[in-house]
Amino acid sequence: MSAASELEKIAREVAVCTKCDLCRSRTNTVPGEGSPTARVMFIGEAPGFHEDQQGRPFVGQSGQLLNKLLSTVNLQREQVFIANVVKCHPPQNLDPTPAQMAACKPYLDRQIEAINPRLIITLGRFSMARYWPGQRISQIHGQVKQADGRLYLPMFHPAAALRDRDRTLPMFKADGFKIPALLEQAEEIARNEIWGYPVESKPDPEPARPLAVAEAPAIFIETAQVAPEIQLEPDITPNAPGQPAVPVTIQENAPGPEKVPVKVKRPARINPAVAEPSGESLPGMAALPGEIAPGLSLAEASEGRTRPKTPAVPGKPRRKRPAIPGEQLSMW
Ligand code: URA
Ligand code: SF4
Repeated sequence: MSAASELEKIAREVAVCTKCDLCRSRTNTVPGEGSPTARVMFIGEAPGFHEDQQGRPFVGQSGQLLNKLLSTVNLQREQVFIANVVKCHPPQNLDPTPAQMAACKPYLDRQIEAINPRLIITLGRFSMARYWPGQRISQIHGQVKQADGRLYLPMFHPAAALRDRDRTLPMFKADGFKIPALLEQAEEIARNEIWGYPVESKPDPEPARPLAVAEAPAIFIETAQVAPEIQLEPDITPNAPGQPAVPVTIQENAPGPEKVPVKVKRPARINPAVAEPSGESLPGMAALPGEIAPGLSLAEASEGRTRPKTPAVPGKPRRKRPAIPGEQLSMW
């Protein structure tokens, strides 16, 4: 079955679902929407009032902030898929209960399987708990993990960012700005999975054919005879001006910097960006702190190892989500 028809089938099942008590208070089900072939999937918590009215995810104020993020990172809503942990609106915006989340889980599992996104972005605590059970969002937001051949990025919920514009909103933005680079890296991981071995994203440049002395221009012969042999030592420091920002290092045991003996006419200033051997992970560049989820190495993650699942927030009293201050999103 195609992804599109499986998603339609799920939506039809959700529309008549009575597997938990939320079926009694909903106006419309909100199965999720977007491209069946989306490379990026966002997972929120539960539909709010406006989503319940319209049957569409993230159409209220949280949705406005999500839309802003999407346009900032050059993604259209139609290109991604947006889903929720539970598909029906909890009355009074109560947090979804473990029973409600468990009842609704098979729908989200099937959506993820049908779409098979390269990058899953969790928005808020409840979708985060699917992949980082027992962790705190304030501690792990923005830390990328690799598992099942894809990348996962935990982000604050947009509503939390809107409620705390001084502290949480800047973190929400900073985490969201990682999306384009992560997507590129996720595509690379997928290519490697398909081919079973690393596939070079850029072809190697043609090796230079050494000039026979007779072919070489006179000026080169003259200077080459006195040219010193120098080592290119790229002078790269993390986030030095002019260096591309690398938000996550996903390759373990990446090759170290190669020393490239080069003959030059005279000692020259070498552009380290040009001298960098592979163009992938920059030698000598440290990963930004805390980019890999604590407790799970990439090697472990890529072996498909996951930690035991535990309930999202065991034993926590249910909280009513506070309202978002109702002001225009002028602060982006
Ligand atoms: N918050 C969510 O988590 N999901 C929505 O669809 C809307 C608001
Ligand atoms: Fe069914 Fe999910 Fe809605 Fe509960 S929240 S009634 S499990 S669709």
